[in-house]
Amino acid sequence: MTLPQLKMQTPDLIQKNIEQIAKLFPFVMTETKDEKGNLKKAIDFDLLKQSLSDVLTDDQNERYRLDWPGKKASLLKANTPIFKTLRPCRQESVNFDTTENVYIEGDNFEVLKILQESYLGKIKMIYIDPPYNTGKDFIYKDNFKVSKEAYEQEIGAVDEDGAKLFKNTDSNGRFHSDWLSMMYERVVITRDLLSDDGLIAISIDDTEIYQLGKLLDEVFGDNNRLACAPWLSEPSGGKEKTGLRTGHEYLLIYFKNTSINITQEERSTGELNLKDKLGRYRKERELMKWGGTSLREDRPNQFYQLKTPEGIEVLPYRNDGKEGHWRWGKSNDFIKEALEYPDFFHWELRPFDDGVRVNNKMERWVPYEKIRDKKKSVGWSTWLDKYGYNADGTRELKELFNMKPFDTPKPTQLIKWFLNLHTDDDFIVLDFFAGSSATAHALMQLNAEDNGNRKFIMVQLLEKTDEKSEAYKAGYKTIAEIGKERIRRAGKKIKEELEEKNRQLKIGEKPTDSSKLDIGFRVYKTASGNMKDVYYHPEKLDQKTLPGLESNIKEGRTPDDLLTQVILDLGLELNLPVEQKEICGNTVFIVQTNALVACFDDKINFEIVDHIADLKPFKVVFKDAGFADDKDRINVEERFKRLSPETVITVL
Ligand SMILES: C[S@@+](CC[C@H](N)C(=O)[O-])C[C@H]1O[C@@H](n2cnc3c(N)ncnc32)[C@H](O)[C@@H]1O
Repeated sequence: MTLPQLKMQTPDLIQKNIEQIAKLFPFVMTETKDEKGNLKKAIDFDLLKQSLSDVLTDDQNERYRLDWPGKKASLLKANTPIFKTLRPCRQESVNFDTTENVYIEGDNFEVLKILQESYLGKIKMIYIDPPYNTGKDFIYKDNFKVSKEAYEQEIGAVDEDGAKLFKNTDSNGRFHSDWLSMMYERVVITRDLLSDDGLIAISIDDTEIYQLGKLLDEVFGDNNRLACAPWLSEPSGGKEKTGLRTGHEYLLIYFKNTSINITQEERSTGELNLKDKLGRYRKERELMKWGGTSLREDRPNQFYQLKTPEGIEVLPYRNDGKEGHWRWGKSNDFIKEALEYPDFFHWELRPFDDGVRVNNKMERWVPYEKIRDKKKSVGWSTWLDKYGYNADGTRELKELFNMKPFDTPKPTQLIKWFLNLHTDDDFIVLDFFAGSSATAHALMQLNAEDNGNRKFIMVQLLEKTDEKSEAYKAGYKTIAEIGKERIRRAGKKIKEELEEKNRQLKIGEKPTDSSKLDIGFRVYKTASGNMKDVYYHPEKLDQKTLPGLESNIKEGRTPDDLLTQVILDLGLELNLPVEQKEICGNTVFIVQTNALVACFDDKINFEIVDHIADLKPFKVVFKDAGFADDKDRINVEERFKRLSPETVITVL
């Protein structure tokens, strides 16, 4: 009798693709033997071809597409499972138990694969700023055979899979191909992570924009290209490369599906930086009439009473204390609506001119129109000028560190422009070339400005800093250390500024809830899986190897590690709240009330099972070795059937 075992590996997308084809063309399904002689599902490709014969093109035919050596291998790689996981690191995290933000150290290809199930269709915005392939960039590449020359240019340590960080110079015969392969295998996975209303923006310059554009057209569909937006990065002109100075880069922006509206507010006269129950707005014109004919006697029927949301009755007094009038009469539809809905106007308390008082008061309430209507306003332009320049990115980082720890930070304003394209403000943003974490900084700033609830996932390779750099000398040995420290410092600064702003509120202005601002983050690091080989290949277990294998879990792996891998394996998100409880002497993890309950202790008995069943969890995970014997295991299953029949039990 065995309970179903968790697979503890990333999904096999080839298998998923086969299942999709089987749904559409069941008659092309067949069976074949794998290398061990076991039967497995396969596709009769000749039959599939025949059923599509009109539109098929084979390898000899010319066709319109972007190709490079290594493209097929990249796609295969993107679809093949890996046996890696994430290990949490509480010491380096901020507010681990309460934050919804995540920072992951590791190669982003592996991380994207690890996140594949948990974040499938759940990420609304992705911003990335990959190496531009300028001839000086370091590219992380798999252990496919490299030429001797390229080998000599390798830097950094070879990781446990033989993957390498190497300097891609244009003497590399595969200069574009290596870069394209690196981007392709990542972008292919990324598309699956985006929600249907998701958007991705990629920073790039003219070294690779043509190749990247074609690649993204292929992955997302050219009908889903929202913009190729030039961004003015160096207003006085950048470095001269061709005899002409190039002072701009690009944002290539794609939808997952074209069916979403992006924000269309005219931001040039101000952002929708205020919020009420109906959503975001900005204050526009005063309702008070000014200028030549602005006294009560000029429009007597435009002198009437309005009420603030707090019920204060307000008449249109001018700042000189004279009776004035509103810009609209009471019979106007706009005012009729305002009289019914107390939040219709934005109200501010303004002083009268020096020494002037009306009814013994020195101030008067002034209503402003609220602008939130998107249809009437003009859309944003794709010409991105004044959204921060490179120099602003550098200045922002310098202000936090009192030195220049990273060479190519993007300005937060540019990233804020992108994040603002979505009308919503409660979603997950992913940046898997995080660098100095400008995206996390921009996101926290935007949340502080509009009370939003955007959450970030940053991914950064453990790339070493140059020993001669200021960062290295200041103790930051990797770019990830700089990125994490920036979030800590920026978060603290943003929160302090928000609290200061709340203390300095003008009368009538509402405070922003600073306790809601999430400036924490959970740190995770990629690592080999927690399970020993025998977990995946029990057939290899024989009498000789048995004594060392009483546990199928690697030494040194903690319950926190196991929980993280189980969460990922079950497709749950990393930022769910986790409660840790001692029940009958065992440590029990309760993930999001009852989404998952896990206990990795060794003595699972009835008492604890009854307590767990009481929680009516959707899923329960134990260690297979946690049961004393088969009898116990069966009894546990029976007990759940009786006490909480919906619960799915699995084991490690
Ligand atoms: C151009 S920088 C990004 C800068 C960032 N936008 C900022 O404003 O600070 C690219 C970053 O991607 C990182 N990187 C390169 N290859 C990576 C990989 N395979 N996985 C994760 N990060 C990688 C590099 O270490 C570098 O920090």
